[in-house]
Amino acid sequence: MSDLKALTGRFITFEGGEGAGKTTQITLLAERLSARGLEVLVTREPGGTPGAEAIRSLILSGAVNAFGPLTETLLFFAARRDHIEKTIRPALDRGAVVLCDRFTDSTRAYQGALGAVDAATLDALETIVQTGLKPDATVLIDIPPDEGLRRAAVRRGAGSGLDRFEAESIAFHDRVRSAFLEIAAGEPSRVIVVAGALDAAALAHLIWSELGARFAVPAVADSTA
Ligand SMILES: Nc1ncnc2c1ncn2[C@@H]1O[C@H](COP(=O)(O)OP(=O)(O)O)[C@@H](O)[C@H]1O
Ligand SMILES: [Mg+2]
Repeated sequence: MSDLKALTGRFITFEGGEGAGKTTQITLLAERLSARGLEVLVTREPGGTPGAEAIRSLILSGAVNAFGPLTETLLFFAARRDHIEKTIRPALDRGAVVLCDRFTDSTRAYQGALGAVDAATLDALETIVQTGLKPDATVLIDIPPDEGLRRAAVRRGAGSGLDRFEAESIAFHDRVRSAFLEIAAGEPSRVIVVAGALDAAALAHLIWSELGARFAVPAVADSTA
């Protein structure tokens, strides 16, 4: 037990395609961690600060497409910088567990899949912007894109339009999925791959046991204490 790292001050990211179940699983994990007395910060990318959320709206509206992939990538990293400085770092420093819905793996998978920003450029931007910050663990929820997009469409409901990435082709989403799996294969100790086809409760259970194998998870707080 004692050689497991404490969960306090850990940075855990969730990755996967649209509709994979990231937000659902982050919510379930946050509840479980909070019940054990840990401070949990739930955040997302792009976003997590007012400035970064403004950049998110700009990107997801599609207004940035005309600028091209490098400018889009720079905007993601600009948002990330603000997010790290104002939200993520301070939370980690005070011992919170930070659960982040998408992070740099998404930039690699999506911008890489768009095919116009090379890995060396992404590496350089990561070094400049993150100054050493890397996720302690990443949960990759893997799902066939048609199933994920179907779920995302149900979630969105009738009447509202597709966002910038939902509007891309199935072939694009297949490339994104492969890119995520390649990242996972290259960093098996960081990236936990789980099957998004499982029902939400089974998936939560699996993620909990995978995290428990890596980190010392405290027992449920005694409500009589
Ligand atoms: N394991 C699951 N099985 C079936 N449906 C799910 C599952 N997890 C989430 N959903 C549903 O699919 C939709 C997308 O889930 P969400 O958590 O928002 O995905 P993401 O954040 O990865 O886009 C939501 O309507 C959600 O209720
Ligand atoms: Mg989500």
